[in-house]
Amino acid sequence: MSAVKRIGVLTGGGDAPGLNPAIKGLVYRATERGIEVVGLYDGWRSLLHPVGETLPLDRNRVRRWDRDGGTNLGSSRTNPFKVKNEAGERVDRSGEVLENLGRLGLDAIVACGGEDTLGVAARLHGQGVCVVGIPKTIDKDLAGTDYTLGFDTALRNVTEVIERARTPAGSHSWVQIIEVMGRYAGHLALWSGMAGQADLILIPEHPFRYEKIYRHLQERLGDGASRRDRSLPRYSVIVVSEGASAEDGGLVTIDDRQDAFGHARLGGIGETLAKKIMAETPYDARAATLGHPQRGGPPSAIDRMMGLLFGARAADALADGDLGQMVSARGIAPAYELSLVDITLVLGQLNTVDVARHYDTERYHFKGIGM
Ligand code: F6P
Repeated sequence: MSAVKRIGVLTGGGDAPGLNPAIKGLVYRATERGIEVVGLYDGWRSLLHPVGETLPLDRNRVRRWDRDGGTNLGSSRTNPFKVKNEAGERVDRSGEVLENLGRLGLDAIVACGGEDTLGVAARLHGQGVCVVGIPKTIDKDLAGTDYTLGFDTALRNVTEVIERARTPAGSHSWVQIIEVMGRYAGHLALWSGMAGQADLILIPEHPFRYEKIYRHLQERLGDGASRRDRSLPRYSVIVVSEGASAEDGGLVTIDDRQDAFGHARLGGIGETLAKKIMAETPYDARAATLGHPQRGGPPSAIDRMMGLLFGARAADALADGDLGQMVSARGIAPAYELSLVDITLVLGQLNTVDVARHYDTERYHFKGIGM
């Protein structure tokens, strides 16, 4: 029998489809193994003073959660090690987390999140808190696992938009730029650009050259005068990751603020690229920034399955006393092998696109797929 009898579950960072199925999987398996589960609202913020409302979770409560996108527990980007005080300084309030765990009678925490949320879990584990992590982020940039919840649904969403972008772009002969999330990792841009058959894909891992983009466009669309030639394609689709940058330019950000984990909000490279194309080439260009709806909607089949499996595996880890671990998936969808990895693996490293293996730096495209 496990020493863990009562646990809290929280979801932190950007919401992602797959979180609610994970909570369902966790609750079903945990209750089977004699562990009581309590939902904590809004990520790590739930464990700062004064401790807020909690939600008892049983099978009946979460029965239908596998169909829900987002997170029914709410989320925040709270970092208990760096909470802003009234003077605007960031202070360490992690001691309150430990006190509140005691107050709530919780033996352990299941944290569902990306590098930030799980990074906090790893640090708290170092202070004696029992934790298990479930990997979640549409960016798929977490070390120690091949799958993170939300990626497949976001991939589906972005691929659909690429498809829909073709009709206006084709009717008006535009270069249509689609700016995709992913922060410092190009997985979402690369795989959606490949699935949606974009002409060019720009990722953070390989800074691009504007001249090369202009040359690609010229090869595809011809020069301005020959655009009446109906044998040539009349439009082009470029997928650009929000973290992509030109060789001679830096990251484009929405403003200069940073969150509690030191991240700027990225955004605007698509618009910058559209302006450059209009200034330097004969082509008309439009940029669409997909923003948060790309994380939206019901979870895909893969995110439902992986969520349920990750949740159940986390419950088993707790019941078996495997603490300080993150659930990990290795392999190719849907035949992943699940295992546990040390949660400290997520600290200080990101899983980014393996450029040598997957990115054609000449054609700005997925390697091995001729366009
Ligand atoms: O990490 C998930 C993510 O959607 C990133 O792709 C994006 O850069 C970031 O979150 C956006 O942050 P926010 O949700 O705080 O606007």
